[in-house]
Amino acid sequence: MISKTTIDKVFDISRVEEVIGDYVQLKKSGSNFKGLSPFTEERSPSFMVSPVKQIWKDFSSGKGGNVVAFLMEHEHYTYPEAIKHLAKRYNIEIEETEQSSEEKEKASERESMYLVNEFAKTFFVNQMLHTDEGKSVGLSYFKNRGFTSETIEKFDLGYSPDEWQAFTDKALAKAYKLEFLERTGLAIVKGEKRFDRFKGRVMFPIHSMSGRVLGFGGRILTNDKKQAKYLNSPESEVYHKSKVLYGLYQAKQAIAKADNCYLVEGYTDVIQFNQTGIENVVASSGTALTPEQIRLISRLTNNVTVLFDGDAAGLRASIRGIDLILEQGMNVKVCLFPEGEDPDSFAKANSQEDLQAYLDKNAQDFIRFKASLLLEDAEKDPVKKAEVVRDIVNSISKIPDQITQEIYIQTSSNLLDVSEDVLFSTLAQILAKDRKEAGRGTRRKPLEVVKETTESPVSKVDHQYVLERSIIQLLLRYGDQTAVFIDFDFDFEEDTHVEVKREYVVFEKIFIELQEDEVEFSNPVFKDLYEQIIEVFAKDGNLKVDTFVNHLKPELAQEVTSILMENEKNQLHDWKRQEIFVIDKSVLDPREVMETILNLRRYLIRKKVQDLSEVIRDQKEEVDIELMRETMEYNGLEVLISNKLNRVL
Ligand code: CTP
Ligand code: MN
Repeated sequence: MISKTTIDKVFDISRVEEVIGDYVQLKKSGSNFKGLSPFTEERSPSFMVSPVKQIWKDFSSGKGGNVVAFLMEHEHYTYPEAIKHLAKRYNIEIEETEQSSEEKEKASERESMYLVNEFAKTFFVNQMLHTDEGKSVGLSYFKNRGFTSETIEKFDLGYSPDEWQAFTDKALAKAYKLEFLERTGLAIVKGEKRFDRFKGRVMFPIHSMSGRVLGFGGRILTNDKKQAKYLNSPESEVYHKSKVLYGLYQAKQAIAKADNCYLVEGYTDVIQFNQTGIENVVASSGTALTPEQIRLISRLTNNVTVLFDGDAAGLRASIRGIDLILEQGMNVKVCLFPEGEDPDSFAKANSQEDLQAYLDKNAQDFIRFKASLLLEDAEKDPVKKAEVVRDIVNSISKIPDQITQEIYIQTSSNLLDVSEDVLFSTLAQILAKDRKEAGRGTRRKPLEVVKETTESPVSKVDHQYVLERSIIQLLLRYGDQTAVFIDFDFDFEEDTHVEVKREYVVFEKIFIELQEDEVEFSNPVFKDLYEQIIEVFAKDGNLKVDTFVNHLKPELAQEVTSILMENEKNQLHDWKRQEIFVIDKSVLDPREVMETILNLRRYLIRKKVQDLSEVIRDQKEEVDIELMRETMEYNGLEVLISNKLNRVL
């Protein structure tokens, strides 16, 4: 882990306006800077950076925060990645805190493997660009495929010479250990002999989301039918095929911006799409899609469009895998290419405009697509048709959001020409069966997590009032104090959330947490107070209650005084019963802070979901897909927060 001293130093030296200036053209505007939002496609600038407060705010997307929050939003870095980026930019040496010797050894082994991969990538690139063999064999192959130098560089494409151990010898000469050459699969060791795994192939490095080289794919250039066309790095401590998506590193910003991800089969499809100008595309590289891969995408968008070759062979088999995407709460569309075309060939033969137009026109909602595809075979056969109905409802049952399920039942009823009642009872059967299986300890459905908590408290307004007020109280009491909080970071390399203890100043923690959902205080007095308090802290680092109160409007001043005077226990007495968790403490307890924040966030999000659901329910005829998507997003968020809350307690 990065030491506190390093983090402090990074915050000290970094200038938010400089770092954002690397990505956004900023113009001076009074004491602030202004620019076009990098998160939306806007024409008039609504993106503000305050050099005084060292914060930024994007008024078109509602996002905002400090320099680290910007990098996390824009580059999709984790917190430590953002700190590392800043350290690099400002030449700050990173000091790591102590790890156990076992941890150290593991980490340094993985580190060694990454280094070997990085070296190999550079070696293959240099071989292709700067040797005669590389240019005439490797480079000309890619050029023939229509890839420009820019594209070749973007994907770090390379060439592995057609010699038995060119790479291995070079790496050994550079003092890389044979052990790691073997463990990354770059060298194959047989007794005294060593072989380059990728001899004579063009090379496609496979990057992690943050850009580290995890492994390689290598394509053969001869017509030797005895050898595999594509060879990939073997599974290793750094390369887990099921947790990687090819092209994600290059695509992540485009995916977030387009709010959609195209999913294709392989390396050449991804690269040809990029070459044509469509960048929000990734490949699962031959294997069936895994939940881990879907989760990677879901960090960037809820929308996936799966692209299939024109020859429908295997189509019926592959659509089975799509239920998995639905299960993760994603919206799935499907697009078929014309007979005889795959994404690669179609992208190559068309301009960006034509390709985009084709995708927009032919992408179909997955459930509809599946229904019409299966019905083709079953139209005249009642037994088969019953199977189709069951199959479709089964797909619908995978969708975690109930409202979406309901809408799909309505749509399918029309498509399949079966009454809604029948479909609903089939759905109920399937869900009951799933639940029974889940009860046996197989799988916990996300839906159930939400369900336990959706009964809204009777006295809505009161709880929100109490929670908002508690935030103000915490800020006034402990705002400038520092405490250790437990964060749940997403560790990309390990693909799981890990608990990380981190020191924060209380007001910063509250600010960072609350800005995440883009929800606001409902009580105007608290909202006003909250903004003013944060501003004072951000400017001065502390808040002197007496001067602060003196500058407030009378009604705010009165509220502050009453908050400060009051014994909070009285208002909290029935929280337990209302399923709001409380710890009774009168000194700063970071858990109390986290609980209050998370309870408020969950409360506001729940309210948002309820509001949206009501709107959707009233729209019986023409349902707004955007609204559905938004509802599902908030639903997902609620689950996430509930989980955090459970872990904090
Ligand atoms: N693929 C693979 N392993 C194979 C064959 C294909 O991983 N044995 C993946 C590759 O990622 C490739 C994609 O599937 O980009 C498309 O396959 P294919 O068209 O066979 O590969 P190309 O390199 O495009 O070959 P060709 O030029 O013959 O079309
Ligand atoms: Mn091909």
